[in-house]
Amino acid sequence: MSEEGNLPTFQFKKLLNDEQELYKWLVTMITQTGIARVENAPKEKGQLQILGERVGYLMETTYGLLPEVRAFSEHSTHEIGYSDSNLPMHSDYSFNQVVPAVAMIHCIEQTDGEGGANLWVDAFHAANLLYEEDPELFQILVNTPVIFRNVTKTQVGHMYNESRHPLIR
Ligand SMILES: [Fe+2]
Repeated sequence: MSEEGNLPTFQFKKLLNDEQELYKWLVTMITQTGIARVENAPKEKGQLQILGERVGYLMETTYGLLPEVRAFSEHSTHEIGYSDSNLPMHSDYSFNQVVPAVAMIHCIEQTDGEGGANLWVDAFHAANLLYEEDPELFQILVNTPVIFRNVTKTQVGHMYNESRHPLIR
C-alpha cells in the first residue's frame, strides 16, 4: 500500500496558468499513476469545471455534469456515496456503457466527525499481480462478461443504467 506522500501532487493555479505543468499532470495520470492530487483549489463550487475545461469536454453522467455530494443529502436513502458510511472499494461508473476517462473530485468541506480518509487501489498493479500469480484466473476475468446495473434517482425520475463487460478490460 502506498503512502499519501507518494501521490504526485500539483498546484491548482499552476495547472490553470502553465501549459507545461498541465501537460505533466495529464501525462503523469494517464501513463504513470492513474491518479494525482491537486492542491490549493479555491474552496468554492465551480473549480472542477474550470480545471476540466482546460483539458476537454466535460462528460455528464446520471449524477449530472457537476454532481455535489453531501452526507445526508436527499440522495442518502438510496446512495451509499451520499451517506456518512464507509465506502468499500469499488469502481465508479462500471454500469455506464461509456465510462469517463478521468474523474475529478473536489473536497470543499470535510464533514464533521471521524473518518473521511480516501482510499485508492492501483487496479493496474492488482491486475498485474493476478496475471503473474494466476494467469488462468486472470484470463477468466478478461474474457467473462459481467452485468453491471445501477438505478439512480435524478431530478427527472429514475435513471436505469446497465453495462455488460469483463471485470478486466
Ligand atoms: Fe466512487
